[in-house]
Amino acid sequence: MTRKIILSGNRPTGRLHWGNYTGALENWVRLQDDYDCYFMVADWHVLTTALDKASLIPQHTREMILDWLGAGLDPERSVLFVQSQVKEHAELFLLFCMLISKGRLERNPTFKEQVRDLNLGGEISFGHLGYPVLQAADILAYRADAVPVGEDQLPHLELTREIARRFNHHFGALFPEPEALVTPFARFPGTDGKRMSKSLGNTIEIAAEPDEIRAKLRTAYTDPQRLRRSDPGRPEVCAVYTWYRKFLPDEAEATAAECRSAARGCVDCKKRLAEGVIAYFAPLRERRREYAENPQRVDEIVAEGCRRARARAAETMDQVHRAMGLG
Ligand code: TRP
Ligand code: SF4
Repeated sequence: MTRKIILSGNRPTGRLHWGNYTGALENWVRLQDDYDCYFMVADWHVLTTALDKASLIPQHTREMILDWLGAGLDPERSVLFVQSQVKEHAELFLLFCMLISKGRLERNPTFKEQVRDLNLGGEISFGHLGYPVLQAADILAYRADAVPVGEDQLPHLELTREIARRFNHHFGALFPEPEALVTPFARFPGTDGKRMSKSLGNTIEIAAEPDEIRAKLRTAYTDPQRLRRSDPGRPEVCAVYTWYRKFLPDEAEATAAECRSAARGCVDCKKRLAEGVIAYFAPLRERRREYAENPQRVDEIVAEGCRRARARAAETMDQVHRAMGLG
């Protein structure tokens, strides 16, 4: 029986945090049971908006791969690879550039947001505008059936489907129209109560050591109206409570009740959570450490992943060449 194919990826921006984990990685680990999975380090994509960070890519790539392996992405079953090592993506990107209008890319809501938020002024690269076209090439090079992503990526996936449809219309049915597998818990709070995001400096890394977890939780955002220990709290506005629901679901109900009745204070509440989360991520930290101590093994895993990715992408390009009458 042939299994359906999944492709997903992340830009290498450093160590992954709780938000990345609940928003994507944790879900990827589960999907390995039911799909043939390709997981990609999107290093070219970093260059579209952060050319100044190019020198950090090798280090960030290593950290991210270690986080992936630690979390349980299984190199025996899944293909872990690096985008820039599979040149087929670049060729497919070039061809897809002919299938989409400049206006369509300018109307992409993610693009408009970035132009607004990143203070890019007039300095928008051609590559940045083409970001979703490259992403479409990433996905369709593997003829992926599904793409597990956070909600923020849905506009990009819609564009991928459009490009697949247009290619199929002009050159004959080749690409599936990949569906999005949207991850729940998309809005995961950071230590300040806002969405956890590296740019806000409110993250806790999945590989954080116990003392760091304790320290970050100690100062984390709770119910701002609960000033005294005797004030009843509102778990629904408290980041700590969301983390309970995620990491210690068995204790969530009691936490909410004891918070509302002021039977539990925030200091104790956080201490208990810290110990629970430390235990939750202990297997991940352990496995990550084993891989970190064996960099040669990690290099082999990635080299083998790139080889398998290239083989699949090359097969797609053969079909593309034939369909388009190239070569
Ligand atoms: N755009 C994705 C992100 O910012 C990264 C990415 C690149 C990706 N290519 C992809 C995700 C293909 C899914 C499929 O996180
Ligand atoms: Fe949040 Fe716990 Fe304090 Fe309630 S008791 S406000 S859930 S930290």
